[in-house]
Amino acid sequence: MRREIVHEGAKRLTYEIREIVKIARIVESMGQEISWENIGDPVQKGEEVAPWIREIVSGTANESYSFGYTDSQGDINAREFIAQDVNNRSGIEITSNDVIFFNGLGDAISKVYNYLKREARIIGPSPAYSTHSSAEAGHSGYQHLTYKLDPDNYWFPDLDDLENKVKYNDSIAGILIINPDNPTGSVYTKAILKSIVSIAEKYDLFIICDETYANVTFPDTTWTFLSSVINNVPAISMRSLSKELPWPGSRCGWIEVYNRDKDEEFHKYIESLISAKRLEVCSTTLPQLVLPRILGDSRYKTHLVERSKKFYKRANDAWELLSVIPGVKCVKPRGGLYFTVIFDDIPGDGVLYIKDDKIKSFIESAVTNVPKDKRFVYYLLGAKGICVVPLSGFYSELEGFRCTLLEDNDKKRDWIFKTLASAIGEYLKK
Ligand SMILES: Cc1ncc(COP(=O)(O)O)c(C=O)c1O
Repeated sequence: MRREIVHEGAKRLTYEIREIVKIARIVESMGQEISWENIGDPVQKGEEVAPWIREIVSGTANESYSFGYTDSQGDINAREFIAQDVNNRSGIEITSNDVIFFNGLGDAISKVYNYLKREARIIGPSPAYSTHSSAEAGHSGYQHLTYKLDPDNYWFPDLDDLENKVKYNDSIAGILIINPDNPTGSVYTKAILKSIVSIAEKYDLFIICDETYANVTFPDTTWTFLSSVINNVPAISMRSLSKELPWPGSRCGWIEVYNRDKDEEFHKYIESLISAKRLEVCSTTLPQLVLPRILGDSRYKTHLVERSKKFYKRANDAWELLSVIPGVKCVKPRGGLYFTVIFDDIPGDGVLYIKDDKIKSFIESAVTNVPKDKRFVYYLLGAKGICVVPLSGFYSELEGFRCTLLEDNDKKRDWIFKTLASAIGEYLKK
């Protein structure tokens, strides 16, 4: 090539949640059955989508108009429905103009970072959800900037760490919050959200709040939408159909923009996101058409409550088994579809017994020069066929792994949690 064509940020685009699949597929091809606990797809893990939801979708799919384009910013009925919902539950007023649809939040995340000025940085949590951290690092060409989530305090953000970093780094233009959090399962209190809003206010920043799991919070947890504490701070809330319908294949996510009239620069930035969407024509029509009918249906609330109870029970089951193992910490998740285990001191030479010689030698060759928690994850794959994601893949200095709560078969899920517990014990045995 006569010119270099690779973007400065290209090497920072990593997504361990799917990268682990390469290794898992090789192990699978050698005869090991794999339990896929790495990807947050409830449907793939056996959840049946409620028949009444499927009826609404199939009825609309039968109408020719659902095959057409829709508005670039999103179907007007869907945007009005979302704006009304925000206004009903919070102290602020938004309109359909403050709602923008994307092809899943993955698309929204990519655009939100890509259309920021390159020097404007967003600080996000560590452990970090890789789609955000990689997109931010890719956009800036530098390592993602992070504040700590504290496993000794329910994985809540370390607010001193956040404020210090914001104070001494004036390239930071915004704060990312993921609530409920992926990978930790933490759900922040109203007081914490208010403190983050105050920091944003004090240093003239905007907030991005990923609320994908807002409707998957557990019965013993009080949930607070950012919109109810945002005051006058410019902000973006990110929502999606993927995890709550669930319908990850819909590729339907949206952003709600708060206080765009309060800051000229923020307003221009939001306009640039809408222009970017126009270049693309629009996001997928069908999910937007059915959204008001599904989310506005009287059965939807019960649907969400029942699902939350289901994941609550699973989170408790996992936590009861894993939190008592010496040498690791497992904080009880309060929402979302995952739990995280961290090691106090993971050995660099730990092993698990692998019966099959071919798999054993493959794993032995794969673990050279990998982080210590990834070594455990590879051995777990080879020995037990359970595919989880190493925490080092989440921009974290802490060593551990994330596992989903999604396996729908009770017996299999029970086996997964118990096998994880025994594998950790075996690995840490001196
Ligand atoms: C916190 C978070 N944000 C965004 C996404 C992306 O969701 P979508 O399916 O809408 O692209 C995920 C998916 O796992 C997620 O966990």
